[in-house]
Amino acid sequence: MTNFQFKTTDREYLPPDDGKVGDIFSRLGYGISDAVADLVDNSVDAIADKVHIRFVRGTEGIYSVIIADNGKGMNGDELREAMRFGSRSTKSDAQLGKYGIGLKSASLSQAETVTVLTKKNGSTLGRRWTLENVKIGWSCEILLESDVQNAFTSKFGEFSIKDSGTIIIWERLEHLKALPNNINQILEKTIKKLITELGIRFHRFIEEGCLEISIDQQFGLEPPTGINLFVPALNPFSYEQPGRSDYPITLKFELNNTPVDVHCHIWPPKTKSLGYRLGGGKVALRQGFYFYRNDRIIQAGGWNGIRADDGEPHFSLARVRVDLPPALDSMFKLDVTKSRLDPSPNFINALKTASTNGITFDKFIDHAENAYRKQKKIEGARFPLIPGKGISAKAQKAIANILEEKGTGRPKKVSFKWSSLDLDEIVRLDPENDVINLNSKYKKYLVEGSSGDAPVLKLVLMFLFQNQLEKSFITQKTLDWLQSINQTLLASMKE
Ligand SMILES: Nc1ncnc2c1ncn2[C@@H]1O[C@H](COP(=O)(O)OP(=O)(O)OP(=O)(O)O)[C@@H](O)[C@H]1O
Ligand SMILES: [Mg+2]
Repeated sequence: MTNFQFKTTDREYLPPDDGKVGDIFSRLGYGISDAVADLVDNSVDAIADKVHIRFVRGTEGIYSVIIADNGKGMNGDELREAMRFGSRSTKSDAQLGKYGIGLKSASLSQAETVTVLTKKNGSTLGRRWTLENVKIGWSCEILLESDVQNAFTSKFGEFSIKDSGTIIIWERLEHLKALPNNINQILEKTIKKLITELGIRFHRFIEEGCLEISIDQQFGLEPPTGINLFVPALNPFSYEQPGRSDYPITLKFELNNTPVDVHCHIWPPKTKSLGYRLGGGKVALRQGFYFYRNDRIIQAGGWNGIRADDGEPHFSLARVRVDLPPALDSMFKLDVTKSRLDPSPNFINALKTASTNGITFDKFIDHAENAYRKQKKIEGARFPLIPGKGISAKAQKAIANILEEKGTGRPKKVSFKWSSLDLDEIVRLDPENDVINLNSKYKKYLVEGSSGDAPVLKLVLMFLFQNQLEKSFITQKTLDWLQSINQTLLASMKE
């Protein structure tokens, strides 16, 4: 109920101003990768397994972008409907298209002219939208068939369109304008970004071998350069070992009686994996939600308001995978550019209260932070290690106090174990479990020394100090370090 109750006196047909509507497209918020991805969505829906993207350029600028696929193409009625803003094609829940505007809005966000050429069962057709024609009464051009046929004789990367396929051409590029002296740079950057973003969004399709995306360049009317770049899959969850052995965990709940699974992952620290770095740039900004809709990534990172900061480095290792059930589309408000979602507060609330084996979402964030801090500590500390098992509990505590360093986080505990090693070994390292194994066969000698003169200890000290002894004088820093070592050794002797 509201307080405002007004009676209607009349109604009037009030169409939008075509001129103003036309100006909106370039400001819809599409980046070039979002826009190309929207067209790749259409190709995937048209069962294409090959999509080729071609940048046609001169020395002064980029003339056009061509996106060709070997999908099922369109007949006359289908093409007519495809050109309509708000196409009335029925889309199943399993398809990537949804609103009926992607082709037009994505294209006109980047270009002032978009031409759609299509071939189905050998027949070719073409139509074109220009911004001017949108502004003067939505008049869509129908193109001469013989001209259209010509376009289908080209080769697109490694394929040519035989019986069916579709070619979209963007011209008069609004955002891709380049100055003559930086065109190479801009193109290189654009292609690199496309390779990353398409590799992320379509990684499942590429990994499964049902989609191949390639990119090339062509200088004006010359033939294409022949250098064909393929978009590799970039899977944001492709680590070998998780950053914590009890991960990933799945939080389960229901929204509108539909089950939702939220998979919480922790990346291992310090990885250089391509799946972690996702094309370079600030990797901290890649933490957060990865929402998939029908296997296509919509959003790659970001917390959608559930956490205050999207790029806080301490949570860099936390990534969350959610496969959106199509029945819940309305709850996750997909934005027009299909690059972000706005999940309803119900999702956030349900996620905050769910738990698996006592692990809640907040606990997961803590775990991811700990995994990250552990990495930080080891990098910056003078004493990244403290003794654990194998040294008495009392001495462990005393030593930990001596070696404590402010601001570097918790050091790693190293255990000592008397183990049965080979005869030619005194010590064996087990870095995976942070254990130093000592050969139990030599325990007596190591404890007492064969001559009572501690030769083993002397040698160990020599190795410990080899870097310091290489220098001709001792710095204050080394003296402080040595003092901590002396205190530590004394603490262990007090036992
Ligand atoms: N490459 C293509 N091959 C075959 N048909 C296509 C292709 N691109 C577009 N179409 C047809 O044009 C229609 C309109 O495409 P458009 O992208 O505008 O809307 P959509 O995919 O239905 O929904 P959304 O706005 O969510 O993308 C599609 O539904 C499809 O029938
Ligand atoms: Mg679409």
